Amino acid sequence: RLDVTETFHGISFPGHLHTQESLQHAMKFQFQDTDILIVSYPKSGTTWMQEIVTLTLSRGDPHLSRTVPNWTRAPWLEQYYCAATLKASPTTPRVITTHLPHHLLGPALQGSKARVIYVSRNPKDVVVSFYHFHKVANFLPEAGSFPEFLTRFLEGKLDFGSWFEHIKGWTAQEGALNLLHITFEQMSMDLRGSIEKVGVFLQCGLQEEELSSCVEHSRFSSMKDNKMINYSLVPEEIIDHKKGSFMRKGQIGDWRSLFTEELDQYFERIFTSKMLGCNLEFVWE
Ligand code: PPS
Repeated sequence: RLDVTETFHGISFPGHLHTQESLQHAMKFQFQDTDILIVSYPKSGTTWMQEIVTLTLSRGDPHLSRTVPNWTRAPWLEQYYCAATLKASPTTPRVITTHLPHHLLGPALQGSKARVIYVSRNPKDVVVSFYHFHKVANFLPEAGSFPEFLTRFLEGKLDFGSWFEHIKGWTAQEGALNLLHITFEQMSMDLRGSIEKVGVFLQCGLQEEELSSCVEHSRFSSMKDNKMINYSLVPEEIIDHKKGSFMRKGQIGDWRSLFTEELDQYFERIFTSKMLGCNLEFVWE
């Protein structure tokens, strides 16, 4: 079976991509000041940001994003192939992705000037997107019913750990790290403005036409058709493409399709208590 779990510091990770060694390697990673690190809890807009960063660094030229898979041009730090991938194609800046919580990566990033882009999404849409992904991804545990899945999410028991710890840990670093926090909802509502912001953060101010090209190629419809980013290259035994696609809906507010009134109240109760004292605001629809 593919859905073997690797447990590391109390957090489960899919075992077909993560090993104790790869996770240890991530924790001791030597960041360079030129590195660009895309950080997210799963289903928050990771792939979207990988595309935006690739296109921004290429000044809107889609060649790289149409010829190299996202896991090669922006590998996940904690996955077993990362070290070899970075070695095989040394580029500056390096673009690296991670789903790790800050408490695991904090020591490696301490004092680093690496640019960190933290992508977040409203957690109701995160859990719904993750639920659907569990149904198509054979490397993740059984999804079960949605109410059960929601409980596992709120208790931090899904693979990659607690959403609450993730967002609180990383957003608390806004002053300490060279960090840009951008949300899925900002990207949805103002893709052009969001890419402009990323461009400024990466110190690659874009010309109008370059910016337009970035917008064009990072739209949901373009990404859905780009096999280098839509995961259609992943074999059937890992992602069952017949059951659904990675680029599913790409919308804000799809949580309403699975949340009943009762589940919403349950969610709100836990969310309010766990987010107490956090000044983060979310766009829910
Ligand atoms: S993963 O598995 O953690 O890398 O997933 P991640 O990329 O973070 O999140 C997948 C969701 O992002 C949506 N997506 C987009 N939405 C709008 N526009 C664009 N360009 C785009 N690219 C990816 C994708 O459809 C998943 O959300 P859902 O709600 O399931 O559709």
